[in-house]
Amino acid sequence: MSEDVDRLLDLRGGVARVWTRYTDLVVARASGSWIETVDGERYLDYTCGIGVTNTGHAHPRVVAAIAEQAARGIHLQQNIVFHEPGLRLHERLPRHFPNPRDGDAYALFLANSGAEAVEAAVKLAKYATRRPAIVAFRGGFHGRTHAAMALTSSGVKYRGHYEPLPGSVYLAPFPYALRNPTGRSDEAALRFTLDALDELFATLVYPEDVAAFVVEPILGEGGYVVPPDGFLPALREIADRHGILLAVDEIQTGFARTGRFFATEWTDATPDIVIMAKGIASGLPLSGILAPSALLDRLEPGAHGGTFGGNAVACAAALATLDVIDDEGLVEAARRQGTRLLSGLRSVAADHPSVAEVRGRGLMVALEFAEPETLKPMPERAKALLAAALERRLLLLTCGTYGQVVRIIPPLNTTDDEVDLAIEIIGESLGAD
Ligand SMILES: Cc1ncc(COP(=O)(O)O)c(C=O)c1O
Repeated sequence: MSEDVDRLLDLRGGVARVWTRYTDLVVARASGSWIETVDGERYLDYTCGIGVTNTGHAHPRVVAAIAEQAARGIHLQQNIVFHEPGLRLHERLPRHFPNPRDGDAYALFLANSGAEAVEAAVKLAKYATRRPAIVAFRGGFHGRTHAAMALTSSGVKYRGHYEPLPGSVYLAPFPYALRNPTGRSDEAALRFTLDALDELFATLVYPEDVAAFVVEPILGEGGYVVPPDGFLPALREIADRHGILLAVDEIQTGFARTGRFFATEWTDATPDIVIMAKGIASGLPLSGILAPSALLDRLEPGAHGGTFGGNAVACAAALATLDVIDDEGLVEAARRQGTRLLSGLRSVAADHPSVAEVRGRGLMVALEFAEPETLKPMPERAKALLAAALERRLLLLTCGTYGQVVRIIPPLNTTDDEVDLAIEIIGESLGAD
């Protein structure tokens, strides 16, 4: 190993300890589904940088768009001027609004991170409705700024010791069939959630004081939990009844990840606000919210904003990302490869009783580990699988409140051979129950 590489490895000690760290790999380059370390080892990256590089690492069209825009201007500030990639993105992204209503026009507000987009959605909902309260769902993860933390309950580490958080946030159960206290079926889980909402409105907050439901269409950090199909439509109906806005947090589920452009499209529910980040620009920091123009434009000039929002280079990367999703058919690819991955994983996990469930939608796939009789979470099994897969040069992540779920997040243009390799490695890495 050269002295330079040695020195680089030593510098790892200078990075803040607050970053949860899955590996200590130092990457020299990354391309498609693969990363290569400074010591020349290649890893199949099925983390996608936590669901960001949906088009694969350094897609040539994204790289070219970034380089071209950087040479023409990097920071062309939104309050001061318009720029070409931004204008094109404001035309193009609203066309993806899920289940649009006839006659509604949709508009876009851009920010930088997921949490920042969540803040924008909460501010818009409060500003437009002049109502104080937000209802979010247990197990949800919405980010690390103060309002986003208040909506987050996927793990105490995300909010504990930061009290007081913004008030008037109420948490209802997310329908999680495997762990539903009234029975392990979708029907029972949905009933449990809807009854809890009734009880919430009867005991803690009047529905007419609620500005918005903020909900992930599929729980991400909280365990890759796919709710019953009736969940979002039921929230839509309750929202309509009480003048509540429905804000869907598509930060992890968006940009073709689940085999639809947005996961909300697996249902017929029309949201009021779509919150986006992660996959939007293949890795450049960009986020935003989509909403009907009539709602978004209730925010007066200056009521919200930010220096970097809608950065020109990030917008150029987002346009190239949309081109790649279209031209490479990544919505269909996610569905096709998701089916391949799910069925392969179900077969390698079949004789492992500690795998309580293999679930997912599109290429948002997970294995949950639990003791067979009691369903006691088994985070140690998830951790062991990650370590064994890492030894075999496959990168995976955990999620779930107890870290008992292994999530598999491949790039959407991953190949059949790569999917099969991942299944084989996971099969070998499952170890003995
Ligand atoms: C569903 C969801 N919402 C919000 C966030 C926060 O995004 P960011 O980390 O970009 O602030 C995340 C990040 O994991 C997420 O998965």
